[in-house]
Amino acid sequence: MNRSVLAGIGTSLPTRLVTNVELSARLDTTDEWIRSRTGIRQRYVVPPGTATSELATAAARDAMVAAEVTAVDVVVLATSTPDHPCPATAPDVASRLGLTGAPAFDVAAVCAGFVYALAVADGLISTGVATSALVIGADTFSTILDPTDRTTRAIFGDGAGAVVLRAGAGDEPGALLGFDLGSDGTGHDLITVRAGGSRQRGSGPIVDAADVYFAMLGKPVFMQAVLRMTESSQAVLKRVGWELSEVDRIVAHQANLRILHAVADQLELPRDKMLTNIDRVGNTVAASIPLALADAEARGALRAGDRVVLTGFGGGLAWGSAALRWPDLDRRDPPMISSL
Ligand code: COA
Repeated sequence: MNRSVLAGIGTSLPTRLVTNVELSARLDTTDEWIRSRTGIRQRYVVPPGTATSELATAAARDAMVAAEVTAVDVVVLATSTPDHPCPATAPDVASRLGLTGAPAFDVAAVCAGFVYALAVADGLISTGVATSALVIGADTFSTILDPTDRTTRAIFGDGAGAVVLRAGAGDEPGALLGFDLGSDGTGHDLITVRAGGSRQRGSGPIVDAADVYFAMLGKPVFMQAVLRMTESSQAVLKRVGWELSEVDRIVAHQANLRILHAVADQLELPRDKMLTNIDRVGNTVAASIPLALADAEARGALRAGDRVVLTGFGGGLAWGSAALRWPDLDRRDPPMISSL
């Protein structure tokens, strides 16, 4: 059977940097509170008028350059901030990349989106439907945050990350070896944008002005994130037959540094095996895992052949994990700040 192999990684961050100090000047918060409760020092946000597709396209181009390819068979875009409720954003991204005609679709699994998209693309490659794929995670949460909400404004940032997958063999470095995916819709109201969908249309009467903004219940989300990412990491390890002690690195969704530490502690893994870039980019939703991977690759924290577990959790509730051997990639610069 064909396996899919990670052949290149790319990123895109908007130029506008917002530090905790700047946020503290506008909201009732402090640099000390944000750093100590989340591990975040700064985040990047798009300027007005910049859409998710623009970040997604830039990251995808960067990944294609890294993988030395000019075309792929399929484009899968993980996002929960699409350019429009309809149509999907991926076809637009594909066309901008010169891939008009290729199948292209969005995957909506919020912060678990990148792992879900990776699993879908892996399935298309391993069944022979495609021989290569672009998997993009891109979100612009700054466009859906309540400007007066100090909690969500402190946590989220915008960005995009992308990987190119190609068909290959399971024993190659970069091969995706297994997945664990899950969801629990009974927790759907923990992370929501209430208005704008069929239940409460954006054009009709809005029950509460805050309904157009992203909202989350921080504490239960924190607990669920730790539980689900821990259990899902254990499940994927079981599936691929790795012992915990054999894992070199975990790259988890960058939700909150305390969540990452808690997952490492629950797994009884040294915290330094858990890679993080949250201090510099915040929680970038579907972009968070590929941005963290690119950062780690650029810093030399990921080495060819490393046994790596990816794990994500987010709204839905939805979660997922993947296991792979890290590929031998050409060392690149740290995540690119694009001109957006
Ligand atoms: N600055 C200062 N105070 C803040 C603040 C901020 N940016 N954000 C929240 N607070 C306040 C709260 O209003 C609360 O005040 P109160 O006690 O007067 O009501 C206090 O800090 C403590 O809030 P609490 O929710 O207990 O803090 P916490 O330690 O749980 O941290 C989160 C809050 C949101 C950082 C944390 O719950 C979290 O990270 N949750 C998960 C979020 C997440 O990962 N979401 C994405 C899902 S993938």
